[in-house]
Amino acid sequence: MDSILVTGNGPLSGTIPIAGAKNACLTLMPATLLSDEPLTLTNAPGLSDIRTMTQLLQSLGAEVTSLQDGKVLAMSCHGAINSRAEYDIVRKMRASNLVLGPLLAREGHAEVSLPGGCAIGARPMDIHTSGLQQMGAEIELRDGYLHAKADGGHLKGAVIDFPFASVGATENIMMAATLAKGTTVINNAAREPEIVDLATCLRKMGAQIDGDGTSRIEIQGVDRLHGATHPVVSDRIELGTYMLAPAICGGEVECLGGRIELVGAFCEKLDAAGISIEETPTGLKVARKNGRIRAVDVTTAPFPGFPTDLQAQFMALMCTAEGTSVLEEKIFENRFMHAPELERMGADIDVHGGHATVRGVERLKGAPVMATDLRASVSLILAGLAAEGETVVNRVYHLDRGYERVEEKLRNVGAKIERVKSQ
Ligand code: EPZ
Repeated sequence: MDSILVTGNGPLSGTIPIAGAKNACLTLMPATLLSDEPLTLTNAPGLSDIRTMTQLLQSLGAEVTSLQDGKVLAMSCHGAINSRAEYDIVRKMRASNLVLGPLLAREGHAEVSLPGGCAIGARPMDIHTSGLQQMGAEIELRDGYLHAKADGGHLKGAVIDFPFASVGATENIMMAATLAKGTTVINNAAREPEIVDLATCLRKMGAQIDGDGTSRIEIQGVDRLHGATHPVVSDRIELGTYMLAPAICGGEVECLGGRIELVGAFCEKLDAAGISIEETPTGLKVARKNGRIRAVDVTTAPFPGFPTDLQAQFMALMCTAEGTSVLEEKIFENRFMHAPELERMGADIDVHGGHATVRGVERLKGAPVMATDLRASVSLILAGLAAEGETVVNRVYHLDRGYERVEEKLRNVGAKIERVKSQ
């Protein structure tokens, strides 16, 4: 397994390009199952999760061709469809469950393996299955697979009240509803930019969707969807992650392609901590003036609240802030696994249930640390950028799931970072 070596090397300066969003691309790709015409995605990120989704869609009978070094995904699903998503692919990536809605809508039946355990929490699928059942699907859990069948071969429109604004369930139901008979309304829908991006792409394919980006989404079912070409929206989590690099190290970095509306709540917290953020014609310029940053409290929430996917990275910033900050994780039940690793670097953190109390120290010290999940791994790299001495981050396969060429992007702005290939 590869490791990444990072050594504190002073202020950063330059530009970092932000790629297309992993979490948008992972829901846009299954949309190809909804039509027998080609769907082409541009601005796609070159990540291992995208390659896993490619493998899954190909196993279902879709053609997926990766062009221009992974930036373009040319897909089509016009032949016979295999509606069984096998465990050995699904277990690698929970987002595989996003083929359930499209398969049910297109084929009238589906067998999708449950994703199995995940480091950050149980992550059940009850909101997905309950919504599909209200649309007339019969769903049974057998041998670790969800066996789903649409009554009479077609889903029907329904008014569905979500108990929680689940991102994946909103995506699954929205895709399923595009071909259902009648109108579907999702109340308490997720409002993330990735939802709006999916709805925009589905409308290009001929879907009738209103209210995406709000808590109430209405979808009028149509008989068929046609092909389209769609650019993947910028990755707000990668954006927030790289905005933290100059915040932690000092200096000034422009994140190309970044837009304030993608990271509003996050920017409010960075501003409160004393970091300056300026919108430019090409992105977001982030600078840390001299002196220590201030500790601020954070509570994660569904969009437009503070993103849970930036909690680990923000904790790395708070480790050397002046004062004490409390980070409350309200989305996942086990998303503080980066804390013990940051403590190995000298951070002063107490975790109790869903709360982490971080008492700022002057400076962290480099140490060997272990990546446990995608966002925890990049949090350790951010901490290592400003720590005294060398930090070795192990198990970086987690990192490659969601960050493309991270060491190259950081080295280009002055970081001392390299990847050590495993023997
Ligand atoms: C998406 O996961 C993202 N993944 C996650 O990003 C992100 O953390 C999450 O949304 C929240 O923003 C992708 O988009 C591929 P949820 P998803 O359904 O859809 C519970 C990353 O690092 N829940 O909104 O799985 C669930 O257990 C990843 O890029 C149910 O109880 O998130 C969790 O506690 C990590 N029943 C909470 O809701 C359900 O049926 C949020 O889940 C569904 C979810």
